[in-house]
Amino acid sequence: MQNESTSPSTPWNKTRVSSILGIDYPIIQGPLGGLSTQRLTATVSNFGGLGSFGAHGLAASAIKDVIAEIRELTVKPFAMNLWVSTEDEGARTSGRKEFARSLKHLAGHIEALGAALPDHKSYTPVRFEDQVRVLLDAKIPAFSFVMGVPPQEILNECRAHGIITIGTATTVAEAIVLGQAGVNVIVASGFEAGGHRGSFLMPAEDSLIGTFSLTPQVVDAISVPVVAAGGIADARGIIAAFALGAEGVQIGTAFLATEDAGASVNHRNALLSPTAQRTSLTKGFTGRLARGVHNQLIEELNRPGVEILPYPLQRQLVKNLAVPAEKAGRTELLQLWAGQSASLSRQSDAKTLLEILVSEISAVADPVVDCNREQRAKR
Ligand SMILES: Cc1cc2nc3c(=O)[nH]c(=O)nc-3n(C[C@H](O)[C@H](O)[C@H](O)COP(=O)(O)O)c2cc1C
Repeated sequence: MQNESTSPSTPWNKTRVSSILGIDYPIIQGPLGGLSTQRLTATVSNFGGLGSFGAHGLAASAIKDVIAEIRELTVKPFAMNLWVSTEDEGARTSGRKEFARSLKHLAGHIEALGAALPDHKSYTPVRFEDQVRVLLDAKIPAFSFVMGVPPQEILNECRAHGIITIGTATTVAEAIVLGQAGVNVIVASGFEAGGHRGSFLMPAEDSLIGTFSLTPQVVDAISVPVVAAGGIADARGIIAAFALGAEGVQIGTAFLATEDAGASVNHRNALLSPTAQRTSLTKGFTGRLARGVHNQLIEELNRPGVEILPYPLQRQLVKNLAVPAEKAGRTELLQLWAGQSASLSRQSDAKTLLEILVSEISAVADPVVDCNREQRAKR
């Protein structure tokens, strides 16, 4: 149950999330692994939100450089994000035969685009332990993560360095486990969200709960503040999340559609077009369940009988199609990561997006938020 410390007249942006993180607005720009930019992270933080950088695909030395670059652009709090689990069972034993069977489904497209078919290569794992060491040594302001709970020694070290921890739950059970581990803030990630499902207790396919159902149940189950994520793209979504008991929101796709993020022009245009109204979940992009704009690639990879390599081998395989398809502007063959509210995205830069969100919420939110605070205080 929530511990209510704010009075009914407290402004909407003064929540435990903003206070723990030391930010003006409890709006987190969701980490965009692979498509994060230092500029986006710093822009959001400089505005008074929390910029996040998705670093799961980077080697430790590259992460160190990214942190230094973000620190050149902002003195405000920001988060670095990692995946606690970086590979699936079978990734180390999968060999040439499996590679050939999965390549078969992409080969026709790769060849038609004039690119060479890839050879099987042995796989070099990225180690979470090496990546997280850099974050700890750099004493970053906030460490967010998905796909698991970091070992207790790491959480202890974060606490000792004053690094705020932000865990991600896709089910109430995951939120409880994160709360018991002593994580400071918990993101309740509904299945509307773009990118990967961060499930870690049960298979992602069995952990598909929408933000509207997940958020209030997580709020009721744990004592630490909850950030709602998934399908939130404008002020209406933020107000709804607050009414459900969230004390902050995490927005991914709407930031991905801005020019500050790392999405290609083809990807951004797709997010801003009506085709983004239809999204689907697939394991075909990487080997783990993720959401993107429904297109030919998703349709083909979701067909029964298509063999998908374990994460991250499938991700590396699909890159061989993504690069030539991107060059050729063939959006129907691209991984167009997107959440279900992509169509609410506005074509603008991240600062304008934040200005619009804050002015719209400030105009209407307080009665909703105050009502919710009163309700919680009565419980
Ligand atoms: C392209 C893309 C990459 C993402 N990468 C990560 C990631 O590496 N780590 C993470 O915690 N969340 C990641 N997310 C999830 C977002 O941070 C955020 O929680 C989610 O996008 C919120 O839902 P929305 O897309 O409906 O706004 C990603 C989302 C997208 C669209």
